[in-house]
Amino acid sequence: MERVVSGIRPTGNLHLGNYFGAVRAFTQMQHEYDCSFFIADWHSLTTHPRPEDIVRNTYTILAEYLACGIDPERATIYIQSDVPEVLELYLYLNMNAYLGELERTTSFKEKARQQPDNVNAGLLTYPSLMAADILIHRGVKVPVGKDQEQNMEMARKFARRFNTIYGVDYFVEPQSYSLGEKALKVPGLDGSGKMGKSEGNCIYLKDDEKTISKKVMKAVTDSGPTEPNSPKPEVIENLFTFMELVSTQETYDYFNERYADCSIRYGDLKKQLAQDINAYCAPIRERIAELSADTDFLSRVAREGAERARERARQTIDEVRHIIGFRARQ
Ligand code: TYM
Repeated sequence: MERVVSGIRPTGNLHLGNYFGAVRAFTQMQHEYDCSFFIADWHSLTTHPRPEDIVRNTYTILAEYLACGIDPERATIYIQSDVPEVLELYLYLNMNAYLGELERTTSFKEKARQQPDNVNAGLLTYPSLMAADILIHRGVKVPVGKDQEQNMEMARKFARRFNTIYGVDYFVEPQSYSLGEKALKVPGLDGSGKMGKSEGNCIYLKDDEKTISKKVMKAVTDSGPTEPNSPKPEVIENLFTFMELVSTQETYDYFNERYADCSIRYGDLKKQLAQDINAYCAPIRERIAELSADTDFLSRVAREGAERARERARQTIDEVRHIIGFRARQ
């Protein structure tokens, strides 16, 4: 069975960007593939959060993964820091990763701008750790949102380079996977392009009805179309993108037609959109509340997931050591 792997940093609660960009695909792929989904707690150290926040957030994401429908009987769910083999592969990949290419990645440049007093080596080598996460499973499909494209390109490059340097055909180049034709970028509703934690414009899966409604009603719009059939500016297109994700085709068409004939009222559209987001999230929200309370169950899922992930990781590391010429681990 083809292998799939993907991860999310525990920076807080899952938002709709995480959900539609990645987690929704996880829940479907687990029925068809050999899936591993992990929580990237090492990656979150690159921004120096407080340790107690990492631990709390890790369990929050675990509960939310399960609430979204990831089934620990079908998929391997684990916490990155429970699988130390990843670090050995990270080291080997780092030996063949060059300063210039790491410095040139957009996410590094962005983070260096955001935290100028903390441009650490972990930030620089973020793409090699991500490549190690994937290649440790010799995973071939990686469900991620559009924002991860460059990291995926780097993972492919590191896989190819390892093969070339050691004269083997060992790592398969991992491919991004998304549910639709193209990788999805879930917009923010504040006109800032992408929904994201650092953009501070997220609707979270756990948000209650009132909070969702408040956030949606605040969405940036314009003064409305004046010419029939005019193209939609980005802030309006964003609202329609959301409708495509959570509303029925009928609802989408209704507002689309109102836009085309200039009779649209953004207040009505937002009200409908808030309702539809709430209807979509309500069952997930209830399950998050139930699962978050069951810490024994969450610990068991994490422990069993780590055991399964380590079994495969050990095999990869043994083979990689053999390829490089090191002795097998004792
Ligand atoms: P992270 O934690 O920022 O986001 C987790 C997943 O959510 C997707 N995502 C979005 N998709 C569409 N629109 C958005 N607005 C949006 N915001 C977030 C991301 O694309 C991602 O799929 N580097 C990764 C974590 C990681 C990883 C890995 C992923 C570490 N190792 C190995 C895959 C494989 C990250 O920071 O994602």
